[in-house]
Amino acid sequence: MSLRLAFLASGNGSTFQHLVETIQLEKLPAHAELLICSRPDAFAVERAKTLGIRSEIVSRKDFDSLEDHAAALLHALRESRCDVIFLAGYLEFVPTQVVEEFRDRIVNIHPALLPAFGGKGMYGHRVHEAVIAYGARVSGATVHFVDEHYDHGPIIAQQAVAVRPDDTPDSLAQRIQTIEKNLYAGVLRLICKEKLKVSGRKVTFLP
Ligand code: GAR
Repeated sequence: MSLRLAFLASGNGSTFQHLVETIQLEKLPAHAELLICSRPDAFAVERAKTLGIRSEIVSRKDFDSLEDHAAALLHALRESRCDVIFLAGYLEFVPTQVVEEFRDRIVNIHPALLPAFGGKGMYGHRVHEAVIAYGARVSGATVHFVDEHYDHGPIIAQQAVAVRPDDTPDSLAQRIQTIEKNLYAGVLRLICKEKLKVSGRKVTFLP
């Protein structure tokens, strides 16, 4: 069976592109149906064009209420008939209604070792700034299912990197971005082959 995938992004879109190229290169049993982008000027939209993937803009600020925003997201997702949703640098809150309808079928990557350095407002560069300011010796990346709280759902995979004494937020971001791509692609493979089982907060890999 081939999975229908949707992607949610807000920015550059390199994560989105890497996942789509992994599907294509490895001929994984999945198809990228839709990119939903929260910003019309995001480069992710250009990448979708180049990759031949339909994109839609759904931005929280275009709606009066959280409910209307959730309804628009759900409408786009239902129309795509997606089975699984990958967040790829998506900076808006995923509404509860969407989480409920796609329970354990929304995946996110966060550029730190959760539960540290996550939560509201913790994304991209801000995460690496906070890690360095705190004096942490390790950071890394976490792939997890999305639940009703920011950066909180069951953890699927994590990989650590050392924080070097001379690291800047930029150098740390760069090192983490390199491992993020492989880590996320690994989870994509497992999902495509239906090798993940979720039970409460525990995620197990099936043989
Ligand atoms: C990635 O580093 C991802 O981990 C991070 O945004 C970047 C997106 O890069 N996501 C978060 O911080 C989510 N809390 P991209 O736009 O080039 O794919």
